[in-house]
Amino acid sequence: MSERAVPKHVFIETYGCQMNVYDSERMRDVLAPLGYAVAGKPDDADLVILNTCHIREKATEKVYSEIGRLRAHKERRASEGKGMTIAIAGCVAQAEGEEIMRRAPEVDLVVGPQAYHKLPELIALAARKRGERLAADFSAQEKFDALPARAPDGVTAFLSIQEGCDKFCTFCVVPYTRGAEFSRPVADVLVEARALAERGVREITLLGQNVNAYHGAGGVGFADLLEQLARIEGIARLRYMTSHPAEMTGDLIALHGEEPKLMPFLHLPVQSGSDRILKAMNRKHDAAHYRDIVTRLRIARPDIALSTDFIVGFPGESEKDFEASEQLARDVGFASAFSFKYSPRPGTPAALMHGQVDEAMKRERLARLQSVLSEQQSRFNEGQVGRTLPVLVAGKGRAPGQKHGRSPYLQAVHFESGAREGEIVQVRIIGASQNSLAGSAAALEVA
Ligand code: SAH
Ligand code: SF4
Ligand code: F3S
Repeated sequence: MSERAVPKHVFIETYGCQMNVYDSERMRDVLAPLGYAVAGKPDDADLVILNTCHIREKATEKVYSEIGRLRAHKERRASEGKGMTIAIAGCVAQAEGEEIMRRAPEVDLVVGPQAYHKLPELIALAARKRGERLAADFSAQEKFDALPARAPDGVTAFLSIQEGCDKFCTFCVVPYTRGAEFSRPVADVLVEARALAERGVREITLLGQNVNAYHGAGGVGFADLLEQLARIEGIARLRYMTSHPAEMTGDLIALHGEEPKLMPFLHLPVQSGSDRILKAMNRKHDAAHYRDIVTRLRIARPDIALSTDFIVGFPGESEKDFEASEQLARDVGFASAFSFKYSPRPGTPAALMHGQVDEAMKRERLARLQSVLSEQQSRFNEGQVGRTLPVLVAGKGRAPGQKHGRSPYLQAVHFESGAREGEIVQVRIIGASQNSLAGSAAALEVA
């Protein structure tokens, strides 16, 4: 008989983008066979993993303050004769692993995004001695091959199909933290998607830093992959993020009009409305190209809702450049958007550019842009009131009898219904706020 594992607990805190959310799930899957159950808070955990983000300075600072908080838990547990292993994963681990080890002696191990399959080995090593516990290699293929089968816990799931980035936007750390662009083999993606469908997943969001740059062997492009995934029984909805405007090919735009499983919502970061700034950012597209994609998408799929990212205060951004961003937002009309103050990142070309914009100016521009964008978001949500939308039921809502789910446009919808998780029900929208919709279910199952 095998030895029974002592129950252990892992707490994983995830920062940053959906790629990190996916990776955290995969780390949980790697640790389950070692007897790790998931803890709800760090206090009771034998192992705490911070899955970190390096994209802006603020995100990176958070890591060090969180390590400080964990130190207290670690000391308290030590006084009770219990251990706590602290692991730093993700993009800060990749970018600053050695510095973390130097600055934070309470950290036991550091593991970069491409080395999560090595976690069990690293934990065992760290238990023996500190040192030799930094894994920051760059083989995405090895990572995916070595990870165990997925254990999804809902009706929606992320599926990472592409990692890394070769675009080198001058403001961005991702090409340095995630390495060169890598597409997973088509067959592997299909196997993982089928396994998710068999376990009750109905909506898959394909992930990649430049997901639409996906290229499988034998010339399988991103649109071809979507078509193959759409044929999987049980999968009712497909989404993808994040896309790059330079990779919005004609076949992908056309597919939005042809494939009903492809949801009418697209996150397409533009960053700026000024051609001068887009060029300095090395974005590989201008504002006219972006507007043209939007026009073509709307011809293919008239109800498509768009979301985007903007950066304000990029080096050299003048008032006129900023107004071009505001104008682009007004012209396109986004259903939702993220906007950020430019944050100079170590090792990126833009950090060394002349004309750094001062903090007060960045703050003022961010507020102006956000007021345009949040008004658009509210208007978009209010525009749904009175419509009946198909909602994928994802779980119970806050009140008894309440359910929550997502509209085709990715809006959160709360409504009363006896429908089960995984059903798609017709919901009449009766109220809207900036962040969600309230509905009354016609409870008509459609799929
Ligand atoms: N791969 C995606 C986005 C990656 S990062 C793409 O190509 O669009 C997510 C967002 O963070 C970016 O779209 C950008 O708006 C923002 N961002 C990245 N680096 C930044 C920086 N140095 N300062 C401020 N915002 C940044
Ligand atoms: Fe960063 Fe640009 Fe690559 Fe997106 S496309 S991850 S913004 S370098
Ligand atoms: Fe952050 Fe890394 Fe994602 S820097 S945004 S967690 S790829």
